[in-house]
Amino acid sequence: MRTLLILGASGDLTGRLLLPGVAGLIAQGRAPGVAVVGAGSDDWTAQQWDERLTASFAKARAAAREGGAAALDAVQAASSYHRCDVTAPGALAALLATLEGPVAVYFALPPAVSQKACEVLSAQDLPPGSRLVMEKPFGSSAASAHALNQTLATLVPEDHIHRVDHFLGKSTVFNILGLRFANRLLEPLWNSDHIEKVEIVFDEDLALENRARYYDRAGAARDMIQSHLLQIMAIIAMEAPATLGERDVRDGIATVLRASAIPEDFAASTRRARYTAGSIGERSVPDYTAEEGVDASLGTETLAEVEVRIGNWRWANVPFVLRSGKALGTSRKEAVITYKAVPHLPVGFRGVDNPTRLHIGFGPDDLTLDLDVNGPGDLFTLNRVRLQTQLASDPLLPYGEVLDGVLNGDPLLSVRDDTAEECWRIIEPALSAWAADAVPLQEYPAGSPGPADWDTSAR
Ligand code: BG6
Repeated sequence: MRTLLILGASGDLTGRLLLPGVAGLIAQGRAPGVAVVGAGSDDWTAQQWDERLTASFAKARAAAREGGAAALDAVQAASSYHRCDVTAPGALAALLATLEGPVAVYFALPPAVSQKACEVLSAQDLPPGSRLVMEKPFGSSAASAHALNQTLATLVPEDHIHRVDHFLGKSTVFNILGLRFANRLLEPLWNSDHIEKVEIVFDEDLALENRARYYDRAGAARDMIQSHLLQIMAIIAMEAPATLGERDVRDGIATVLRASAIPEDFAASTRRARYTAGSIGERSVPDYTAEEGVDASLGTETLAEVEVRIGNWRWANVPFVLRSGKALGTSRKEAVITYKAVPHLPVGFRGVDNPTRLHIGFGPDDLTLDLDVNGPGDLFTLNRVRLQTQLASDPLLPYGEVLDGVLNGDPLLSVRDDTAEECWRIIEPALSAWAADAVPLQEYPAGSPGPADWDTSAR
């Protein structure tokens, strides 16, 4: 890719995540010859843009090995910012005409604005070989995601479209694939004969962090479950791919999601809650509805849990419980695979026969296996032990990993068109039930483990 054009360049995402991600790539020599160009609706001066680049490149510059800092300097010196209303007919096309192709156009914009920007673009406006990169959320419903997919399909081929889910850029994905498919011990038991349930938890101790404009209309289910957690679920549940090529892996993910649904008794299969005032460590957190920019009447949940069922041979009757929330007392980010009890525990053992559990921690990635062994001093009593190891981490930030795929032409870590629609299809019926108040909106004090009747403890 010759040019990375970031739309929404004056926005928070660009400064906080995208530019640091691309800086890591440049510093490591993984984006040779790429030019970075910013465009936004704000009337920024060249100096403002330069200051943003200096700030966003700082970490990568400090960590760079030989040549890395010089590469960053060169990219920064050649970079420019353009004020552009990308929804105005012809404006984006005119900017594209000044850039050296192929161009990766990164839409760091709200979905409705991205949709409009793509509608006023035509395939001829894009230099040959160009790629389109769409930020999350991709659409705001199955219908709008479908409409956006149709618009994108008129511009470039599907394998040149990168729908970003930065969880796919975490080392987690490869760690799960390696763990599952490089160990004979795990895969033969990875099914409903042996597994009782799978929980995928992303409990954050962060609160709203001034993101009301986006978050208050999204909520925990759209923000985290519709995208990140369903992707992780699919990678945990997929069949063994023949290769790590994008076609094999993304087919595997799509097949799982097509078979997935939330059981229709939503009062039983889903829960939602919103935080009230409290404190997390030293920080005191206001009631969610008192946060600036929040409209209490929207009834936005800050903690959501859904039970997904995967209707296929391997996973029949195994609940996949997906949960994520903000302002919780403990940050807990992991998938927990709970095995069924043994069919017969020899009579004579004392103590509790706890189920075997495998924990896959997300960032930093680690692996913990909980087993029962004979107790020290009393060989008849069962005792719990934990086998633990760190999993590999990636020196690139998740956005750097995703951008690597964009700039070097591999859509493996991007969400495919059908998958983006499936994720909405899975979650939408639950969201409708919530909108109709079929499931109560519970409350929990910020800093607590969640509502009193939810068992959110790590086992
Ligand atoms: C983002 C969500 O996509 O992922 C945030 O919008 C969330 O609400 C974040 O905090 C979590 O990812 P990470 O990688 O920053 O822990």
